[in-house]
Order: sequence, then C-alpha cells, then structure tokens
Amino acid sequence: MDRELFKKQHGIIGQSLEIREIVDVIQQVAPTDITVLITGESGVGKEVIARAVHAASKRGKKPIVTVNCGAIPEGLIESELFGHEKGSFTSAVEMRKGYFEIADEGTILLDEIGEMPLATQVKLLRVLENGEFNRVGSSLPRKTDVRVIAATNKVLDDEVQQKRFRPDLYFRLRSVNIHVPALRDRKEDIPLLVEHFVKDFASRNDVRFQGFNEDATELLMNYDWPGNVRELRNVIESMLVLEKGKKVTADDVRKYLHRETLADRNLPMIVNRTAEQAERELIYRALIELKTNIEEVKQLLKRRSVLHPEATSTLNAEPTNGNGSITLDEMERKMIMNALERNRNNRRLAARELNISERTLYRKIKEFGLQ
Ligand SMILES: Nc1ncnc2c1ncn2[C@@H]1O[C@H](COP(=O)(O)OP(=O)(O)O)[C@@H](O)[C@H]1O
Ligand SMILES: [Mg+2]
Repeated sequence: MDRELFKKQHGIIGQSLEIREIVDVIQQVAPTDITVLITGESGVGKEVIARAVHAASKRGKKPIVTVNCGAIPEGLIESELFGHEKGSFTSAVEMRKGYFEIADEGTILLDEIGEMPLATQVKLLRVLENGEFNRVGSSLPRKTDVRVIAATNKVLDDEVQQKRFRPDLYFRLRSVNIHVPALRDRKEDIPLLVEHFVKDFASRNDVRFQGFNEDATELLMNYDWPGNVRELRNVIESMLVLEKGKKVTADDVRKYLHRETLADRNLPMIVNRTAEQAERELIYRALIELKTNIEEVKQLLKRRSVLHPEATSTLNAEPTNGNGSITLDEMERKMIMNALERNRNNRRLAARELNISERTLYRKIKEFGLQ
C-alpha cells in the first residue's frame, strides 16, 4: 500500500526519514505472525506503532490486549498473563483467564517488557516458542494463538548484561526490532504533529485557535521534548484550552514546558471488559499514579539538591535502606528536625509549616526520639 495512505489510515504522523522507514517495516511485518520488539523513549509513539502492526495484520478485527508489565505487582503478573485455577492461591476464589487466553486469535502488546520478572520471562519464552502455557495452579498445558508485540523504553542489551533479562528471550524478541527515535532527533516531524494535535483537539472540543507567533514556533522546534510526542501533545492541548482567542507567544509556550510526568500510562485494556476487569484496571491505574508520584518526588528532590545543596544535604546523608535510597521514616524524621530547627523549636510554627497538627508533631517527636 502507498505509504502516505497507510500513515493516514493508522494515524501515524511524521515525514522524517525515520518515520517513513518505520512505516515501511510495519507494512512488511504486519501480515506475518512475527514477534516485533518496539524500542524507544517514553512517549515516542511505540503504542501507535504496535496498534498499526496489529490493525494491518490478519488479526486486525480481533482484539489487541495491552499489558503494562511494569504496573502489575510481581506476585500477580503470572496469573494476570496466564490465568489461574480456583484456589491456586489465597485470593484466587474463582478461575480466571489470563490475557494470553483472552487475546486468543488477536495480539498481545507487552508494554515495558524490560520490567518482566525473570521467572515470568521463561514462561513467555515457552508461549513464543510453541504457543503453550499453563494457568497458575494447573498442570494442564493449554494452547493459544497470539501474536506478541513487545515494547520497552529500556535498552535490553544492558538489561541482559545486568542479568535482569534472559538472553534467549531477548534474541527471540529482537528478530524484528523497530526503534522509534526521540522527537528531538527528528524535529522535522514537529510541525506536522503540532498541526495534527491542534486540528484534532480544536475540532473535538469546538475551540478556535489563533495560531503561534514566530518565536513560539521557533521554541516548539528547538525545545528538546524529554517527554517526546506525548509531552508535545499535552502542551498543545493545554495551550488550546488556556490560551485561546490570542496568538500564542514563546512566553506562553514556556509556561507549559517541563511539566511532563515520567510514567507511561498504558494499562491492560480489554474491549468489553467485565466489572471485575474494570476494577483491576482501576487498581493498576492507582498503582501507576503512585509510581509516578514517587518518581516526581524523587525528581523534585534531585532538582532541589542541585539548586539548594545545603537545604537537602541532610536528605542525602544516610541511613539508607540498603540500596542507596533513604527510608520514608528517615525522610519524615529529617523533615521534622529541619522544621523544628528553622522555627527555633517552636512546635506550633513547625507543625504549621509541616501541615500537621501540633498533637501529631508531639507524637512524632516522641516516636523519633527527637527530644
Ligand atoms: N507518529 C505519531 N503520530 C501521531 N500521534 C503520535 C505519534 N507518536 C506518538 N503519538 C501520540 O503521542 C502519545 C504517546 O504515544 P505512545 O504510543 O503512547 O508512546 P509510547 O508508547 O512510546 O510511550 C499518544 O497520544 C499518541 O497518540
Ligand atoms: Mg507506551
């Protein structure tokens, strides 16, 4: 099929050489059942590519099930992927099909494959090799006919070196590897993406947009987009809501940069999901939010310690939990100590600064033996 037509059908925007090459590879591999590994930073469009591979395949009318391997707690991932029998573990009150069974005849997108525990990797390799798996708690091997697409923002080579990823699985996955470059390395795609997101959002939300002035356009082109296309999209959508009715300047744009959160928000998604599955999704969403918040706090602390080394130096001091990061208790203790110090031991003021009641502060001071 003509490349431009294909891009249009599958919502792939971009004119860079890289995107054109990717589209050609998609068209070549889509009709086969070959496993595809899609790599690239968060937000570059890995999921867009995966969906195009699925949609253009003979499985296109069947579901594609996306599983975020990084969001599922380690102890649950096998039962999520392969299902479990009633009573196979304490909370397994009923038999449940796993995503590999649900996706039968369709495609499964294993997102953040680099986060998959080693024990699960063995089982994945088995499915890839002969379509076989066992539900947790069952000795009956089952068959499934699923096309696997894997995605990751990690460099799997490194993961293999660090012994966190099985080399045999890696070789198997990377037979076709589509690498999606960061947006800053294919800036010629930016104007098309901007135009697309503006049009798309404006028409869906019935807002009129007055456009960018020259400085603003230049900034959009020169910014390095650490959150890639996802960040660009969020920035455009925020601006369309908040800066409507005027021509957008570079200063306006600047307000919306550097806001991107770090997490990939892909969740296991199933068409026609049951209430139970919907509930699971909610739980995973909450887990991802939590993970994101922790990442953000870490970033914030890192940034603060660069800007005000004296203010956070105590935070960087031990004790740690053994892998180099500070424990939550210790962080709390330091915060309380610092607040007391800043407020010359005035507990009322310290409590106010910490946004806790004086009673709680008293209790904490005792608990941490600060007196
Ligand atoms: N080439 C592209 N064309 C159109 N939209 C894109 C493109 N690349 C990314 N996007 C959009 O950017 C956002 C992030 O893309 P996604 O596929 O989820 O990235 P990733 O999986 O790599 O983190 C989505 O809203 C997606 O629709
Ligand atoms: Mg993704």
